[in-house]
Amino acid sequence: MTASSAIFIININIVLFLYFFPLGCISFTLHQIEKSMAEPIIELSNASIFQGQDLILEDVNITVNKGEFVYLIGKTGTGKSSLLKTLYGELPLTVGEGTIAGFSLNGMTWKTVPYLRRNLGVVFQDFQLLTDRNVNDNLKFVLRATGWKEEKLMDEKIVDVLSKVGLKSKGFKMPFELSGGEQQRIDIARALLNSPKLILADEPTGNLDPETSDEIMSLLFSISRDYNTAVVMASHDYIVVQKFPARIIRTEKGKVMDNATINMH
Ligand SMILES: Nc1ncnc2c1ncn2[C@@H]1O[C@H](COP(=O)(O)OP(=O)(O)O)[C@@H](O)[C@H]1O
Ligand SMILES: [Mg+2]
Repeated sequence: MTASSAIFIININIVLFLYFFPLGCISFTLHQIEKSMAEPIIELSNASIFQGQDLILEDVNITVNKGEFVYLIGKTGTGKSSLLKTLYGELPLTVGEGTIAGFSLNGMTWKTVPYLRRNLGVVFQDFQLLTDRNVNDNLKFVLRATGWKEEKLMDEKIVDVLSKVGLKSKGFKMPFELSGGEQQRIDIARALLNSPKLILADEPTGNLDPETSDEIMSLLFSISRDYNTAVVMASHDYIVVQKFPARIIRTEKGKVMDNATINMH
């Protein structure tokens, strides 16, 4: 080998190294991101959902990953709320296995449910705000109930969640002084208090007019995207789903179907 061809081989190696090394770094980083996104926050396997003795849903198998937005779609009475209640520990899981936000649903008791609830946000159709106190006191009530003590930190947290839902100036309003859309934003602010990685929303747009409903959907989508928060939202409103498309899990005839295509007609 001549000296010049040896130099050429070394040079080409350096060029190839410089060319591939950053690509290698990027693909490694992408792999890491993909891996963190594929981490499940909800896993139900072979689960049955009951209301008392009544079997509502059978053989439920669901995996939801961190940061995912998922609709739970189905006609009224098909078990959407029952499934969500099982996920937030209001109904016991007695058949099958379930893990949510790192907690096992099996054998959960009234003593352990509060720990689970601190790691979830729940949003309701009818807002469920305490009507006898203003927004700040509604939020402070939840903070105290979930173990917060320092007034200054609580006040900061309240300003933080109200800013996130665009209602920073409404802390001193009573619930009855707020519109339906604003009350739903406060409900979402309340769900964000403990920085959950999962929000369960049961027909959050059910009581709202179409325009306000769109605003609430945009807010939920931006929360999911900006804070990598998984959202499972029950709805029977196909217009909302068409406008804000996401993965669909469907309840029908006692079963749950994943990624079902919706028949719009
Ligand atoms: N608290 C309850 N006690 C007994 N049965 C209930 C209760 N809540 C709902 N159910 C029944 O469970 C089934 C599923 O209801 P639900 O989960 O509320 O459905 P969806 O949220 O899809 O409208 C229905 O047959 C309903 O009558
Ligand atoms: Mg329901």
